[in-house]
Formats: sequence, structure tokens, C-alpha cells
Amino acid sequence: MKKAEIQNITKIFVSKDDRKSEVLALDNISFDLAEGDFVSILGPSGCGKTTLLRIIAGLEKQTSGNIIINGKISNEPGPKKGMVFQEYSLFPWKNVIDNVSFGLKMQGMKKEDAYKKASKYIEMVGLGEFKYSYPNELSGGMKQRVAIARALANEPDIILMDEPFGALDAQTRNKLQNELLNIWKNQKLTVVFVTHSVDEAVYLSDKIIVLSARPGKIVKEIPITIPKPRTRTGNEENEIRDEVLRLLNHEKYLADASQLSGE
Ligand SMILES: Nc1ncnc2c1ncn2[C@@H]1O[C@H](COP(=O)(O)OP(=O)(O)OP(=O)(O)O)[C@@H](O)[C@H]1O
Ligand SMILES: [Mg+2]
Repeated sequence: MKKAEIQNITKIFVSKDDRKSEVLALDNISFDLAEGDFVSILGPSGCGKTTLLRIIAGLEKQTSGNIIINGKISNEPGPKKGMVFQEYSLFPWKNVIDNVSFGLKMQGMKKEDAYKKASKYIEMVGLGEFKYSYPNELSGGMKQRVAIARALANEPDIILMDEPFGALDAQTRNKLQNELLNIWKNQKLTVVFVTHSVDEAVYLSDKIIVLSARPGKIVKEIPITIPKPRTRTGNEENEIRDEVLRLLNHEKYLADASQLSGE
């Protein structure tokens, strides 16, 4: 059974000034996710990755196409779609447990139950000791763990992650990748993950989707069947990494060339 279907998503932004000029950001994007799929999206800067995630999350309206979750059209935002952003998007005035339980309380869950559930996910991301700490008392990696716990606490159908580890140092990033893999496996998460790191995508994903330079179109879907956890330097991993890099470099070349010719 398909968990999520991204069907023919096209997005045209219309400028708010008098010129009403149009920018085609995404051009007919379609792909499916089975339950428990970890799909990464890579593509040149400005190709529409964040726009696509925001459309899946229901935070941005597509010009055409549909998002289907569990067989039903799902173009609206809601607790069943968990989003983790690159920038730490925590409420600075709330401690960890209040950040994580916020969505649950918004849905009408009693404080006591919301705290119980939030605690489970705070433990899961290894922050049990920091439940009552405030965001400014946490490192970048810890803040991102809180953001992940907050997304998980709603027990969403799909988790959408936009460069969640982009701001972290390499060691913390590797550690969080492994933690995410563990949680993904134990909780059978269905994930759409945007990253600029080919290494990260090859390490984590069941499928990599490479987008073209703007307007974003799917250049290639690359399934990866190497069992997880993977090595970071294995031969099979290296071959896939080479292929993705080649595709991305080609897209970047085309984008630079069209800029030079003034298109
Ligand atoms: N609200 C908006 N109004 C108008 N244009 C927008 C809006 N949001 C994004 N765009 C345009 O859509 C295109 C895609 O932007 P998006 O942020 O999705 O790219 P991205 O692939 O996430 O880039 P990056 O890798 O740099 O994060 C860009 O050309 C951008 O200028
Ligand atoms: Mg982006």
C-alpha cells in the first residue's frame, strides 16, 4: 500500500508587485512513498526543494497536482505531517517538554497525557535529562533533537525534513544521522528528507530523487537497496555517490550556462 503519493505537483509563484511576473518553481513532480520509505531530495540551490516540502506539508498551495496520504487527498496542513526545518524553530520561551508537547496540547490532549507522550520522544532522542531546559541552554545538535522529538510526538504519517542537519558540525551530523536511522527503523517512519549532502543522502535513503535546476523537474530516481546501516566509504555506496554527483554537476552546469546566456 502506498503511504504517500506526490502527484503532478506544479508551482508557479506570481510576484505581488504590479508586474505580476511569474516564476515556474516546480514542474510536474510525481513520486510515491511506501510505508517506511526514506526518500531524499537533492538538487541545485533554488530548484524548489523547500517549496516541494512545504506543499507536501500543506504550508504552501500548489498551482496544480495533489498530495495523497493513505489514499486520500491531503493538501492541507495538520498534525499527521511532521516538519523539521533547518533553522531551529523552537519557541525560545518554552522549555523542552513544553516545546515537544505543544502540538499535542493544541490538538486538545490533556497536559498530563501530552507530557507523558512528549517524555517518551524526548527520551528517544536522548534528551531525558534536559526536559526542563530552555533552547538557549542547548547546543545546536540538541535543539535539532528537540525539533525531531516534537515532529515525532504527533505520531505523523509522514515526516518532512528540510536540511535538518545542515547547520551542524560533521561529527554531530554523523551522530544525528545514526540516531535518526535507529528511530526510523524502530518507528517505521516514512520520511522525505531534503539535503545538499550527497554523502548523507546515500547513507540514509531508500531512494534518491535528483531535481533539475529551476524549474525543478525530476532528473532521476535512484533506488538504493544496500542494507542499513551502511558504510560511508563502501564500493557500492561510492558508485551511487559518483552517479548523483555527476547528475548534480550537470544540472549546475546547465543552470550556470543559462544564466550566462541571460535566459
Ligand atoms: N514565496 C515565494 N514567492 C516567490 N518566489 C518564491 C517563493 N518561495 C520560493 N520562491 C522561488 O522558488 C524557487 C525555489 O525556491 P526554494 O526555496 O524552494 O528552493 P530550494 O531548492 O529549497 O533552494 P535551497 O537549496 O537554496 O534551499 C526560487 O527561485 C525562489 O526564488
Ligand atoms: Mg531550501
